[in-house]
Amino acid sequence: MNYLFRFCCLMFICGASVCAAAAEMPRLVQEHGRYSLYVDGQPFFILGGQIHNSSAWPGVLPQVWPALEFIHANTVEAPIYWEQLEAQPGQFDFANVDAVVAQAREHKLRVVLLWFGTWKNARCHYVPEWIKTDTAKYPRLIDASGRLTDSLSPFGVETLEADKRAFAALMRHLKEIDGERHTVLMVQVENEPGSLDSVRDFSPAAQKSYFSDVPAALTRRLNLPAGTWDQVFGSTAGERFQAYAVARYIDQVAAAGKREYVLPMYLNAWVRTPDDSEPDPPRSYPSGGGVDTVLDLWKAVAPSIDLIAPDIYLSGDTTYRRVISAYHRPDNALFVPENGNQPEFARYPFSVLGEGGIGFTVWGLDHVNDRTDIEPASASSYPELVPFERTFRLLASMDREIARLTFEGKLKTAMEGEDVSTHTLRFGKWKAIATFGRHNDGVRSASSQPTGELLVAEIGPDEFLATGFDARIEFNLTHPNLKERWQFMRVEEGVYEDGHWKVQRLLNGDECDFGVDFGGAGRILHMKLGTY
Ligand code: DGJ
Repeated sequence: MNYLFRFCCLMFICGASVCAAAAEMPRLVQEHGRYSLYVDGQPFFILGGQIHNSSAWPGVLPQVWPALEFIHANTVEAPIYWEQLEAQPGQFDFANVDAVVAQAREHKLRVVLLWFGTWKNARCHYVPEWIKTDTAKYPRLIDASGRLTDSLSPFGVETLEADKRAFAALMRHLKEIDGERHTVLMVQVENEPGSLDSVRDFSPAAQKSYFSDVPAALTRRLNLPAGTWDQVFGSTAGERFQAYAVARYIDQVAAAGKREYVLPMYLNAWVRTPDDSEPDPPRSYPSGGGVDTVLDLWKAVAPSIDLIAPDIYLSGDTTYRRVISAYHRPDNALFVPENGNQPEFARYPFSVLGEGGIGFTVWGLDHVNDRTDIEPASASSYPELVPFERTFRLLASMDREIARLTFEGKLKTAMEGEDVSTHTLRFGKWKAIATFGRHNDGVRSASSQPTGELLVAEIGPDEFLATGFDARIEFNLTHPNLKERWQFMRVEEGVYEDGHWKVQRLLNGDECDFGVDFGGAGRILHMKLGTY
């Protein structure tokens, strides 16, 4: 009886803590300068797929799930269209958002919702018709020659109120349908905002503001002298002014949403090409969006936006690294909500993890635009996604573990470069030496694309988790000496199942004598090191 009572108490306590964790809101946590997205009370790494712009309709959605299933995504990013949500002013139709959430649950996926409101790729194509047609009430951005543009003015008072109202209605509804379950993890507020047609708004309201002093709160925060926009920012004043106006607008939309339901909210940025050094107007991105050169300003003006996230379609490992390190800052968690779906991008989840990021999403992975049949989840249906499938498959099986390890600062990654490729990853007493190339001789033939990638994490004293492709790993002491040499004590190959490590075999002999090779199919290892 005594035992039964104790058992029941224990079950009650365990049950209560599981419920408490499940009831915990998704939230961004920052510790020791690192960020994590907590989902159900634990670190989570988004391995996502973003569906095409016009795929988030109830009758079309069934065609997107096989692609997500094929790559082993744990999260879908799906748009919510203002033109659908509020086709008539004040009348909200939640059919699309309900379908996204319900169908994602059926497919055991989490959701990031994308609010296609005032801005979508710097244009206003997703606003309802009643906004598109009433340019007096909902003014357009006006360029320097007085022409109306395909973008709304960030000074439109009624536009801002309408967007806030619609976004708040969406968040209120989300709380009703998902406040307990937390299928939806984050919300992107607008999509790649800014202006493509003009460096800034020249509408009467904008002109009045432009020829006034820069708000004192902003100059103080940026540690700049007081003055007009031209005086304070010189040749970049137009872009800074536009960024200020867009950031202030979007901050208010996000704040209105958070008053209803507090989910992490982010802004996605159409990034600057490295050679676009702030000309006026910018050539490679919308003026006023969250590009790296105006991140300080965005951070100062938009506190309701939890993070600013780069959409990366630019090619080249160096460029990729440069972009992610620009967006990973003490005041900004790194999340890459859109990545090109070309094969070269399939290695970059490793880069994002190594940089301490919270997620990586491949863009435009469904075939809704070119196929009408519902495809089975197979490589022949999605040949272009095969490289992503390979990477996601390994990482998805241990997404919680890698999220925790990267948050704790114990995880490092290395990628094969464009020439000879050997990398050293340092972990205190130990260093891991990665050699890339299918033949593991450290030299790749000039014709082949680099494919090698390696992730190593310290999971205990002298113990490491390692995974990767087309790479070989060896270790050594950080300070080798004549009296002490390194050795593998034990090398386990296995899998993660529901967060538990299951050993399938021990590797030794040919499989370990010259380091361990990960091969093209990849493997997951736990390794214990020692010395003799
Ligand atoms: C970036 C946008 O954010 C997406 O919605 C989509 O339009 C892609 N570009 C297309 O390349």
